Amino acid sequence: MNNKAFFKEKVIVITGASGGIGRAAALAFARCGAKVVIAARNEEKLGSLKEEIHRQGGQALAIKTDICSFSDTEGMARETIVKWGRIDIVIANAGQFVQDAPGEIDLQAYERSLAVNFMGTLHVVKSVLPEMRRRGRGHIVIVNSLDAKKGIVGDGPYVAAKAALDGFGDVLRQELTARGIRVTSIYPGRVDTPMIAHIRVPRISPKMSPERVARAMIRGIKRNRAVMVVPAAFFPLGSLNNLFPRLADRAYRVLKIQGKDG
Ligand SMILES: NC(=O)c1ccc[n+]([C@@H]2O[C@H](COP(=O)([O-])OP(=O)(O)OC[C@H]3O[C@@H](n4cnc5c(N)ncnc54)[C@H](OP(=O)(O)O)[C@@H]3O)[C@@H](O)[C@H]2O)c1
Repeated sequence: MNNKAFFKEKVIVITGASGGIGRAAALAFARCGAKVVIAARNEEKLGSLKEEIHRQGGQALAIKTDICSFSDTEGMARETIVKWGRIDIVIANAGQFVQDAPGEIDLQAYERSLAVNFMGTLHVVKSVLPEMRRRGRGHIVIVNSLDAKKGIVGDGPYVAAKAALDGFGDVLRQELTARGIRVTSIYPGRVDTPMIAHIRVPRISPKMSPERVARAMIRGIKRNRAVMVVPAAFFPLGSLNNLFPRLADRAYRVLKIQGKDG
């Protein structure tokens, strides 16, 4: 089935849609004929994205949402159902890149990262679940990161939250299968978005476009993939790190995967 036939009139909630991957995903799904709910905190950016989608003939509903607040995410789900009657797909994409100085264990940085990247994602998923359960169908896409499979020095707070999300996604998929609800976890490598604009990366791990991640999402949903690593060539990284962690550490060090600021 082609993308338009598959996604036409599907109601898709996308968090973190005001920029980067979420914005690219919203435009891609809207082009396929989906009704997209674009959620984030920045109303101005949501407003201009909504206009762009409408100009292209698509349908969009903008909802100001802070995923750190469960009442906000519940409101987002409620407003979607009032407007369009159901939620077919949720893309739990909103996130923040939180680093600390290596070895310092900055507690506030960890708390902030877990609040947004982990608890925020749980808020989003928990808010859409009652409606999906009632209908016995739905698809949840959790936007994780390759960093959950192999940590990068200095990224402790971010890596810890994404690793927690890795476990959550794994359990959730098994728990919801029998209820007819699908779960896909997606693990992009580096993506050219404002999130990591301050990092110069080595050639071996170039930044890909957010549109490429959006295309992977489309494939992942259509094929009901449990896990998607983007680019797929990085798929063995997690296994390499599990089997030979020091070798993986060394490879990251030698290849300067960490990159540089500036
Ligand atoms: N860029 C990468 O290299 C990369 C790689 C792997 C995975 N990822 C993951 O991909 C996802 C999107 O990242 P991106 O690269 O597109 O980053 P981005 O360009 O910085 O966009 C992040 C989005 O999340 C939203 N957001 C942040 N905090 C929020 C909150 N508390 N409530 C609601 N929305 C919030 C932001 O909107 P507002 O500020 O308007 O709220 C923005 O729309 C994240 O989960 C990230 O971890 C990124």
